[in-house]
Amino acid sequence: MLVMKNLGILLSGRGSNFVAIADNIDAGRIPGGRIAIVISNRSDAPGIETARQRGLQALVIPSKGKERQTHDREVVAALKENKVDLICLAGYMRLLSPWFVRQFPQRILNIHPSLLPAFPGLEAQQQAFAYGVKVSGCTVHLVDEELDHGAIIVQKTVPVLDTDDEHTLAERILEREHIAYTEAIKIVLDGEFEIVGRRLVKAQRSEVRLQK
Ligand code: GRF
Repeated sequence: MLVMKNLGILLSGRGSNFVAIADNIDAGRIPGGRIAIVISNRSDAPGIETARQRGLQALVIPSKGKERQTHDREVVAALKENKVDLICLAGYMRLLSPWFVRQFPQRILNIHPSLLPAFPGLEAQQQAFAYGVKVSGCTVHLVDEELDHGAIIVQKTVPVLDTDDEHTLAERILEREHIAYTEAIKIVLDGEFEIVGRRLVKAQRSEVRLQK
């Protein structure tokens, strides 16, 4: 029997990565995954309206004027109430407090529009373009207590063309993001991985180990 896992999506804006994940779930491409709740820290996030239109549970927990940990406690309470197993940050423009990260060890994913560790932080596509790299891309990683830093699950590369500007580059990276996030979610839901140092690698099954 397929054990269903509850996904919690956190977003602050457009929500195209959320939509890609939701579409892939609807198309049966993330077996065992369902979106239990979508949370935004901004009431004007287009992504939260999309979540409502799709009939998903959508919650706005405003962050403005609140201490980080106070807001984080409200978000974590909502995630736990909805029995969320895996959290996907999808354009969530808030740094999680170390306390939040510790509530869900190895159960929080983020997507970043560069090949980490290059160009962490804001406007990564513009940073890469301005630097003059010939290849950029996107990274889905586990969230730890440092910004854009945890173990890498999936990366996709995108060539930077002479004809690109920062917008066309960002658009092509976004197309790859929509594929990468689903791949990463499947890897984590399968659970067949281990973290060795910083490296996320396929878990060695015990019978395989015994044969060595
Ligand atoms: C994406 O580029 C993602 O990599 C970054 O924020 C952006 C969110 O876009 N973390 P969207 O809201 O998913 O369309």
